[in-house]
Order: sequence, then C-alpha cells, then structure tokens
Amino acid sequence: MTNGRRLTFEVFRFNPEDPDTPPRLDTFEIDEQPYMSLYIALNAIREQHDPSLMFDFACRSAICGSCGMLVNGRPALACKTLTSSLPETVRLAPLPVFKLVGDLSVDTGVWFRDMVERTEGWIKAKEAFDPEALEERMDDDVAQEIYESDRCIECGCCIAACGVANIDDQFLGAAGLNRISRFALDPRDARDDSDWFDIVATERGVFGCIGLMACDDMCPKELPLREHYAWLRRRALRNAG
Ligand code: SF4
Ligand code: SF4
Ligand code: FES
Repeated sequence: MTNGRRLTFEVFRFNPEDPDTPPRLDTFEIDEQPYMSLYIALNAIREQHDPSLMFDFACRSAICGSCGMLVNGRPALACKTLTSSLPETVRLAPLPVFKLVGDLSVDTGVWFRDMVERTEGWIKAKEAFDPEALEERMDDDVAQEIYESDRCIECGCCIAACGVANIDDQFLGAAGLNRISRFALDPRDARDDSDWFDIVATERGVFGCIGLMACDDMCPKELPLREHYAWLRRRALRNAG
C-alpha cells in the first residue's frame, strides 16, 4: 500500500576514511507508505538502492538521540519525522558541529563528553553518601523542574541549529546550559552561584548567546530552554553585582 507519492531524497554522501572521493549528493526515489517516518524511508533506500548508506538509529521512538540530521536544512530526529510532513523532495545532510562518521552519521559523543567534563555535569554532593540515612525529601516543584531538564536526550539538534556553536565548538549551547541548570537547581549539589560563575558568565556560556532561540524551536523534546537561559542570566548578573 502506498500513499500515491513518489518521494525523492537527495542525500549527502561522504566517507572521511576515503578523503580522495569528494562529497556528493546522491538521489534516490521510493514510494511513500502510510505513516512513513524518515527512519523507515532511509531503511527502504538502503534495501532498495544502496546498502552502504550510513545513518544512525537505536530506539526509533525519540529517546536515544542518535538519529538527528538536517532535514531540508533543519535539525530533526529522523525517527520522529513523518514523510507526510515533508514535500516530495527531501534533502538530508549530517548535523554540523559534530564529528562526521560518514554520510548522515555523526559522533555526538565527542562533543557531549567534552561539554560534560568542562561543566562537571554531575552531582557534587554536599555530604558523603550514607546508605543507612533516610532519603532526603525534595520539593515537588523543584523535582519537576529537574525532571524537565533531565529529559534532554543529547541529540545535538539544538547545537546544530545554533549559529554560535557552528563557529565555536567550545560554546556550551542549549544542551550545555540546560545541563548546568539541572545541577544548579538540585538542592543536593554543593555548588553555589560563585562556583558556576566562571563557566556560565562567559562568551562560551550565557553571554555568547545571541538569543534568536533556534535551539528552542528545534528541540524535539520541547525542553524549556528559553526559561533556563533567563534563569542562568539572572543568576550570573546577581553574582556579578
Ligand atoms: S538562542 Fe543562543 S544557544 Fe540558542 S541557538 Fe541562538 S545563539 Fe545558540
Ligand atoms: S536540549 Fe533538546 S535539542 Fe538539545 S540535545 Fe537536548 S533534547 Fe536535543
Ligand atoms: S532512533 Fe532514537 S531518537 Fe531516533
């Protein structure tokens, strides 16, 4: 069963391990199926046309963050994007900023690991862990805010969409600042505003951001990135004063 449309995909191809073969766009045609996602379309291309096409998927349900790519120039999760939402010609390219593995596959892990190390994006506990102690209570509203930040799947769409991150790979971007918010909000974390100041209140933190909010528009998990920016800016300015 088809939807009646014949889809044309123009797909970026390049293998960094074969640098003598220049980058190119390959064109593939497939029949659109009902409820077809880009994940299904790319598998159809691989089965019907070219088994060597490289792209990443794991969960197929917008949880693992591995299938980000540029879809007609906009970062998106391929498993969450239905072909019915796209025109008949679709151009696919790998996310910029991240290390290219090949074709549509990038290694977001290098960038995210560096960001986590620079921000020390883990709990620095106020007290040593005591397995005998009762669990500390947490205010419901605070727990909910932390949960909202923790929904980040590290897909990299916000970083690929960000003009500043595209010219400076050390800019923390939405994913990095969201991670800082997550720990700055946590009452179990020992760090205060002055500890965060040197990493947040810089050109590679909130003051490098030009504020057009492409990150907020592109985040497939609809994280409250705009609110986190405003909150971190207020905290940085309060500390500076
Ligand atoms: S609002 Fe800031 S972090 Fe978001 S895309 Fe724009 S420059 Fe990048
Ligand atoms: S903030 Fe959103 S767009 Fe950015 S990495 Fe996390 S889930 Fe992806
Ligand atoms: S395959 Fe996991 S987010 Fe798309």
